[in-house]
Amino acid sequence: MTVLDWKVSHTLSATMTLGKLSLSFSFSPLVTSIIMRMLFQHTPYWKTLEPIIASGAMDAAIKGEYRYPHRINIYPGTSCMFECVFCGRNYDVKIKDNVNVFRQVIEQDDGVDPYRINISGGLEPLTSPHINDICRDLHAKGYKSRMITNGFLLNDKTLDKNPYINSLDHIRVSLYGVDNRETVSTTRHQKGWGVVRDNLRKYNLRNDKTRLFLNYVLLPEHYNRLDSIVDYIDHIGGVENLSLREDFTFQYEIDERSKLRDSLLSFNDKMRDMEVEIDYGYSLQQLINGEETTLTRVTHQELRPRQSPQVKICVDPRGEIYSYLEAGFVDRPGALRHSHGNIIGSSIEQELMKKKSIPPMEGDTQYLDAFNHLILKYIHLNSR
Ligand SMILES: C[S@@+](CC[C@H](N)C(=O)[O-])C[C@H]1O[C@@H](n2cnc3c(N)ncnc32)[C@H](O)[C@@H]1O
Ligand code: SF4
Repeated sequence: MTVLDWKVSHTLSATMTLGKLSLSFSFSPLVTSIIMRMLFQHTPYWKTLEPIIASGAMDAAIKGEYRYPHRINIYPGTSCMFECVFCGRNYDVKIKDNVNVFRQVIEQDDGVDPYRINISGGLEPLTSPHINDICRDLHAKGYKSRMITNGFLLNDKTLDKNPYINSLDHIRVSLYGVDNRETVSTTRHQKGWGVVRDNLRKYNLRNDKTRLFLNYVLLPEHYNRLDSIVDYIDHIGGVENLSLREDFTFQYEIDERSKLRDSLLSFNDKMRDMEVEIDYGYSLQQLINGEETTLTRVTHQELRPRQSPQVKICVDPRGEIYSYLEAGFVDRPGALRHSHGNIIGSSIEQELMKKKSIPPMEGDTQYLDAFNHLILKYIHLNSR
């Protein structure tokens, strides 16, 4: 029998056991990098990794060299009405009288990549007094941007006051429950369920609208009620795309993987007749493919002081730049240490040229989302 035992550290080594004979070998960094590519190549992670590698941003991040970010998320929200159990935001924050720092981000970008800049949070983007100006500036420069929102303020009043919201490429609404009980237990908001569902139903009836996407985070006590999403989508009049995700903080990991797989397969069958594109993300797609895996994650020992601003950053309403995307929540305890600089009176380029070094500490993984975990793992595995 041939047994291959792979050990992955800064270089890759393998031990092959052939009967009584045991052979060990390690590979050069170049071969390690090729093998690493191959390991990810046939997984759902590759869809994310491939364009980043092709752009050169990954190589710059591995080498710790300056490179203008491949992607920029702007976080314009000044507060949030929900208190989602898995969200790392500071519940007490309410920013007052903030200037629109995002005009500068859009002006200073070369505009070559229409997918570079997107709107998310941070907090809830529709609470920003500048949301119309931000969407107008993005539209004027030809970006195909998306906004991620909890949908609570996505009503006719907001849309009539901020008509450029509908000039975005699409709006992705985060669905925090398939019924009132689940929404209250996830968001701690008593009216969230009814208000958001009504907003989405009315949104679909508007003449002036953009593409509507939905995102649902599966939690251990809720994953077996996935079928209710079919009724929800039906009730609101349809969505173009539905993404399903797991909690990337790993506090609400679903242990019963085979039951989760059965639930996903049955859901997939039920959705077959609906004209909705389904995006299962990383680990759920692997489950559907028959692999019992969980989300890729890095440990704090695998993090590097330069982080990965070459790949993606976010900018908060005060102008702070972060590459750890969950550090962009204003006044999140401990997050400011991860700022790569402030753009006010400066620029993303000028600040990132300083190549700030932030020594990793235990607990830093709380500031990472699923995207960060993947990119930082890839960088770690490919570092010499
Ligand atoms: C942080 S929210 C900010 C935008 C807006 N407030 C919202 O909730 O849509 C951005 C996206 O991250 C998702 N998210 C937040 N915490 C998460 C977690 N621990 N695991 C998976 N997704 C999460 C949310 O569901 C949402 O779709
Ligand atoms: S995930 Fe979004 S809606 Fe939920 S608390 Fe965080 S910022 Fe608010």
